[in-house]
Amino acid sequence: MTQSVNNEKEIVLSGIRATGNLHIGNYFGALGKFVRMQEDPNYENLFFIADLHALTTAPDPEALHANVRNIVVEYLAAGIDPEKSTIFVQSDVPEVSELYLLLNMHVGIGELMRTASFKDKARKALGIHSDSDDIEREIIGNESNKRVNAGLLTYPTLMAVDILIQKARKVPVGKDQEQHLELTRRFARRFNSFYGVDLFPEPYNFDFGGKPVKVPGLDGSGKMGKSEGNCIYLIDDEKTLRKKVMRAVTDQGPTEPNSEPTQPIANLFSLLELASTPEVVEHFRNAYADCSIRYGDLKKQLADDLVALTTPIRERIEAISADDAYIARVLRQGAEKARERAARTLAEAREIMGIRKFY
Ligand code: TYM
Repeated sequence: MTQSVNNEKEIVLSGIRATGNLHIGNYFGALGKFVRMQEDPNYENLFFIADLHALTTAPDPEALHANVRNIVVEYLAAGIDPEKSTIFVQSDVPEVSELYLLLNMHVGIGELMRTASFKDKARKALGIHSDSDDIEREIIGNESNKRVNAGLLTYPTLMAVDILIQKARKVPVGKDQEQHLELTRRFARRFNSFYGVDLFPEPYNFDFGGKPVKVPGLDGSGKMGKSEGNCIYLIDDEKTLRKKVMRAVTDQGPTEPNSEPTQPIANLFSLLELASTPEVVEHFRNAYADCSIRYGDLKKQLADDLVALTTPIRERIEAISADDAYIARVLRQGAEKARERAARTLAEAREIMGIRKFY
């Protein structure tokens, strides 16, 4: 592919933290979209594994290294094709770390502290449960020996840099990442206007015309997430997957026609919408509306459709995971490509900011 063709394409970039195996929340919120986007010739795609971001919450060296590898394998197994997309590891692009330092000079600690994900993770780090808005007092006043590391606070700067250093305009992510994208746009605008330049384009989420996805857990509560312990993983075998789905929380069933589903049932419908055909969803919605629904049937259908989605991925995971040389080749090639544009953007940012050499 020639340089000039590359330049005309719109850049797509997204990443997943190396904190464990991928679950269907990651799949429907992100990975599944990556695979579809790479088929569109208008896009140049970069997909990476965010190992530096993982350090903010999971600093175990052996686990981190293994997780990075697992996610590369899962990317490939899900259908990301290294001939069509650039696959790389975040830390293989050291330019990101330098721009992160530079951009931090234009980011306020107040705006970082107000980020929902920061408040959430800071409270987890301190082991406190509170809904108060006074996160600052909770952190500064905390006298336990637990701490909130500074990397957690500046997490959105690093994420913004991942995106801005590649000048990406489309960032396929789940709903939970929208606030980070909002901050990225704000940082881009601020930098451009402070220096009177047009260096960074503003990036937006991308969802094939639909709204951003939030995949719920099967426990009747909020979103599916690794730290929530309510995940269906892409590597779950059929038996495990079916067991998890059949155990999903439900209620007594609708007693009046056309009633609003309770949260656990709404969650099951959300999953069905992602995994099944519109006809299947319609069938169960009608059955709910006329009170004839049997949750066991719905769960069985959902499990069938999830098994059909994950089984081929799981089989490919096994094959790809055995091939060290292939993984190394993909990542070396990906790092080279990702560094090219990153180095150009970093050089521009340094020049703009007055970080210039005397020799
Ligand atoms: P992470 O690792 O938390 O999540 C990876 C992707 O999976 C999506 N996701 C979900 N989507 C819908 N429903 C769910 N239950 C669910 N759980 C996870 C997330 O929205 C995300 O798209 N900050 C990012 C990693 C990152 C990044 C970036 C992403 C670092 N730099 C630059 C895009 C661009 C994160 O925490 O991902």
